[in-house]
Amino acid sequence: MKRDQSPVLPGDGATDYARYMRTEALLDLQRHPGEVLHRDELLFQVAHQSTELWLKLAEAELTEAVHRVDAGDPAGAESLLTRATLAVRLVTDQLEIFRHLSPAAFQTMQPALGNGSGAESPGWRRVQAASRQLGRAFTEHLATRGATPATFRPTDPTDPAHRLAEAMLEWDERVSLWRVRHLQVALRIGGHAPAGTPGSPATMLAKLTGHRFFPELWQARVATADTPTCAHSRPDSP
Ligand code: HEM
Repeated sequence: MKRDQSPVLPGDGATDYARYMRTEALLDLQRHPGEVLHRDELLFQVAHQSTELWLKLAEAELTEAVHRVDAGDPAGAESLLTRATLAVRLVTDQLEIFRHLSPAAFQTMQPALGNGSGAESPGWRRVQAASRQLGRAFTEHLATRGATPATFRPTDPTDPAHRLAEAMLEWDERVSLWRVRHLQVALRIGGHAPAGTPGSPATMLAKLTGHRFFPELWQARVATADTPTCAHSRPDSP
């Protein structure tokens, strides 16, 4: 028997899929072909808008992770943080699409962007605020165990706090990797002065690649590094 596909949900759209996903509004959020300065504005807007959506998810997961840590549930926080980290990996991957945007196309569309800059991205701003909250919550959680991020020695992989600390390090690393890729995109398309030129956007972006939300967790890692993990650093290696 044929499945009844007539819509039952309220809202705009001919199908329940369209009504639930709000595809009419979503697909109307990009500039129309008649108003663009360059047809690659679609590529540019889709990459940015989809990034904002993934970052919306990342921020929601980070915020809930903070609540879980505050409630004494680092294991619950870890699984949420892992999802946020995957979202950042996905937005890093999608920077690949900019290999198909030429500097000339970008310059043509630039007047359409006004004074806009990715630095104004609400998604990145909220993710950064939530990351700082996570650092605060974890520090308070460790204090209940008589530790600090700088003195915490994650040596027991079955300890939820150990696992959360590892997930926080990965979060920091993945955000930095996004910044490394984004710097290359900016240099390749934006035509900026090379990183190192005093006061240039590229120099600012290059500096940000070294930013860490949880620097003490990284420092604690140095303090615990008793075994070389690189074969070349062993005293007996050639
Ligand atoms: C054509 C592609 C892109 C170019 C040429 C580009 C270029 C730049 C430049 C030059 C800056 C330095 C600040 C400024 O001068 O405005 C910047 C910052 C920034 N951009 Fe982009 N960008 C691109 C794509 C993206 C995408 C897809 C996002 C995702 C939302 C993004 C997010 C950011 C953020 C968050 C910053 C602040 C720096 C940071 O937090 O690391 N950009 N971008």
